[in-house]
Amino acid sequence: MTEKDVLIQNIQGHKARIGVIGLGYVGLPLVLRFGEEHFSVIGFDVDAEKVRKLNAGESYIRHIPAARLQTLMKERKFEATTDFGRLAEPDCIIICVPTPLTAKKDPDLQYIEKTADSILKTLRKGQLISLESTTYPGTTEEILLERFRDTGLEVGKDYFLVFSPEREDPGNPKFSTRTIPKIVGGTTPACLEAGKALYGEVIDRIVTVSSTRAAELVKLLENIYRCVNIALVNELKLLADRMGIDIWEVIDAAATKPFGYTPFYPGPGLGGQCIPIDPFYLSWKAKEYDFSTRFIQLAGEVNTSIPYYVVDRIASALNDHGKAIRGSKILVLGVAYKKDVDDVRESPALEIMELLQHKGAVLSYSDPYIPQLHKMRAYDFSHMRSAELTEQTIAHADLVLIATDHSSVDYQQVVDHARIVVDTRNATRAVVRGRDKIYRA
Ligand SMILES: NC(=O)c1ccc[n+]([C@@H]2O[C@H](COP(=O)([O-])OP(=O)(O)OC[C@H]3O[C@@H](n4cnc5c(N)ncnc54)[C@H](O)[C@@H]3O)[C@@H](O)[C@H]2O)c1
Repeated sequence: MTEKDVLIQNIQGHKARIGVIGLGYVGLPLVLRFGEEHFSVIGFDVDAEKVRKLNAGESYIRHIPAARLQTLMKERKFEATTDFGRLAEPDCIIICVPTPLTAKKDPDLQYIEKTADSILKTLRKGQLISLESTTYPGTTEEILLERFRDTGLEVGKDYFLVFSPEREDPGNPKFSTRTIPKIVGGTTPACLEAGKALYGEVIDRIVTVSSTRAAELVKLLENIYRCVNIALVNELKLLADRMGIDIWEVIDAAATKPFGYTPFYPGPGLGGQCIPIDPFYLSWKAKEYDFSTRFIQLAGEVNTSIPYYVVDRIASALNDHGKAIRGSKILVLGVAYKKDVDDVRESPALEIMELLQHKGAVLSYSDPYIPQLHKMRAYDFSHMRSAELTEQTIAHADLVLIATDHSSVDYQQVVDHARIVVDTRNATRAVVRGRDKIYRA
C-alpha cells in the first residue's frame, strides 16, 4: 500500500490522529468537530494560558460551550500543548494561525512561517498538512512547500499538502462547522484525495478545486465580495442621509426581490478578523503582477471613512442640544465587532472611541460580552471596564452611541432613559416611544 492509501484508510477508520495548530476562533471548532467524530485530537498553541484553560476543560470563547470540550476530555479525545516537538504525533496537521496585517497594511506572515518551521523539524512520511488561515494565492506553495523541500520528502508521495479555507461565521446559529461546505485544493492529485478524505469524515459537503492557489483565491473572493458590497451600501447610506431617505427601509424593500439581489447592511465601519484585512492580502500580491485591484482600494477608502461620518453625526446630534463633543459624556453601547460575539478585533467601535477621545469626549462603554478592554495593536483602552446597562448609566450619559446591536439589549429601555441616541445599526427599528431622540448614523 502507498503512504496515501494507508493514510486514507486510517482517516476512514477514524484512527488517524489529528493535530490542530492555533486554538482560536477557527481552530477550536475544528478540534470539537473531529473529536465529536471520535478522532483523537492534539491541539498546539503558543499561548500557554489558553492551553492551560483548555486542558482544564474551560472554553474562552462565548459561543463554544465548555461542556462540549469537557465531553472530549472525559473520552480522552483531546489534549492541548505548547510542545511543538510533538508535531510528529498527528497524522493530519491543520494550521489555523492568525494572518493579520502589518502597521503598513502588508500581509504579516510570521505566524505561518513560524508554524512551517516547526512542522519542518518533525515532518515525516504519511503526514497530511492542511493550511486553513486566510492568505494570498501562492502561500501554501511559496511558504510551506518550499520549506518542506529541505526534508527530502516528496510531496504527493511521502507527505500531502492542501489548502482548505475556513468559513467559520462565529455565533451564527444557522450554520455549523459540519454543515458549511468545505473547499479543498491540493498540491498534487494525491494530496487532494487525502485532503478530501480527511474533511469528508467530519463535514457534509466537500468542494474540490484544481490547486491550492485556486482554493486560496476562493476565500479571498468571498471576503472581497462582502467588503465591496458593504462599502456600496455604506456609501449609499451617506447619500440617502443627505437626500432624507431611510436607507434601511430601502434595503428591506429591495431584499424582497426573489432573485439577483443579496442584502448587505451599512454599519459604523468594517470589523472583525476577516473583512477589513483579507482583501489587502490580494492587493499586495497583485502588485507582483503589475495589477491594481481598484475595487478593493475603493471599498477600503469608503469603509475607513465611515467611523469619521459617525463622529460627525454625533457632533451634529450634540449640537442640536447645544453641546459639543468636548466634555460630553458618551456611552458606547456594544464594542464587539458584530452582534452577539465576544470578539473586538478590528471593531469599528474602537476606532470611533479613539476619534471621540481625541475630541475630548468623556467615554464609557457597555457590552455584556466584553467585560473589559485590553491593549491592542492599534488601541489602548485597557483602563476601561464595561458599565452595567441600567436606567442610571443610560440617563447619566449625554449621548448613547449604539455601535453594536447585541440581541440581549432592550432598545426601548435605552431610548426611554437616554437624552440622545445615535444608532449605527438600526437597532432601534422596533422602538415606539421617543423616536425624536434617535439619530441614525
Ligand atoms: N475568526 C473568524 O471568523 C475566521 C473565519 C475564517 C477564517 N479565519 C482565518 O483563520 C485564521 C485564524 O483566525 P482566528 O480567528 O482563529 O484567530 P485567533 O487569534 O482566534 O486564533 C489563532 C490562535 O493561534 C495561536 N497562535 C499564534 N501564533 C501561533 C504559532 N506560531 N503556533 C501556534 N499557535 C499560534 C494564537 O495564540 C491563537 O490562539 C486567520 O487566518 C483568519 O483570517 C478566521
